[in-house]
Amino acid sequence: EKGGYDYFMLKEIAEQPKAVADTLLGRIDGSGSLTLDEVRIPPRVLREIDKVVIVACGTAFHAGMIAKYAIEHWTRLPCEVELASEFRYRDPILDAQTLVIAISQSGETMDTLMALRHAREQGSKVLAICNTNGSTIPRESDAVLYTHAGPEVAVASTKAFLTQLVACYLVALYLGQVRGTKWGDEIRAVIRDLSSIAGAVDQVLGTMEPVRELARTLASKKTVLFLGRHVGYPVALEGALKLKELAYMHAEGFAAGELKHGPIALIEEDLPVVVVVPSPRGRSVLHDKIVSNIQEIRARGARTIVIAEEGDEAVVPYADHLVRIPATPTLLQPLVATVPLQVFACELATARGNEVDQPRNLAKSVTVE
Ligand code: F6R
Repeated sequence: EKGGYDYFMLKEIAEQPKAVADTLLGRIDGSGSLTLDEVRIPPRVLREIDKVVIVACGTAFHAGMIAKYAIEHWTRLPCEVELASEFRYRDPILDAQTLVIAISQSGETMDTLMALRHAREQGSKVLAICNTNGSTIPRESDAVLYTHAGPEVAVASTKAFLTQLVACYLVALYLGQVRGTKWGDEIRAVIRDLSSIAGAVDQVLGTMEPVRELARTLASKKTVLFLGRHVGYPVALEGALKLKELAYMHAEGFAAGELKHGPIALIEEDLPVVVVVPSPRGRSVLHDKIVSNIQEIRARGARTIVIAEEGDEAVVPYADHLVRIPATPTLLQPLVATVPLQVFACELATARGNEVDQPRNLAKSVTVE
């Protein structure tokens, strides 16, 4: 049932192009608009929303962090994203004009469930993004947008994460479409770009051998740091989480702009630092800033592992290891940038002799608070 792979995780990583394509299937019509009729919150209600709040845990929380950038950009609605376990206990401000989005692969995570119950008690509409048909979270929500990743067996989430991102983009673009924003043309262009994104994920998967080799050489390291900016920041957090849970290594993700406020003191000779570089097209200020961050850490001895778009030559002089990803619109980059980090963590775990599919101390669904 592992389909020829040694681990479910490897199989699930490989299934990502299909999972992404399946999650888009039937949701874009012939004219290039989104049809999310299955989201049974009427457009009239969606037009009255004045705030979006996303709640989730772990990897699903990282998908929510990325969704915030997309929702605020394409809809101009304020969007908060919070760990479900924190949200519930801080008396959050919610009302009937708040759309709460609960993201959960299993649909059974207790913290997320308690957060959504609390939101509904305050009169908010709750939309679930979920991978498990008929599970508790979608059953208790006002509406659900299912991710079509198929069953995810490995404890560490991979294909579910990519499909959560796709679902989040669909919701953000749909809200933009329904409410009408000045980004109408961009929204239509991004919907077109989404249609070819599964191919881009597949392309990344085809180039992962050097990443595996690199991971094996780092098996005896104690710490790996991850840096990103904008949507690359949650990607960095996700890379660090995967490494913690699978390789049992100390790993931390930082917003690259925060380096000088503390973390740069951690940099020492030969410390591996993975940097997720935003596209040099699009918002080029972001790109230039991260290139200076790479220079700063390398000058202090870091071993830089740079994930950058094809054709980005500015990073070449400062990259000890360079991982190329296909060009995508800025907001969609996490769909391709996360994949090398999954492969990296999986290979490091294997090199360290760890049980990849069933890391110690972890359960696939966390049904206690
Ligand atoms: C990490 C991982 C966990 C889950 C988290 C939420 O690889 O799998 O962090 O993402 O426990 O689970 P769901 O999405 O089922 O609510």
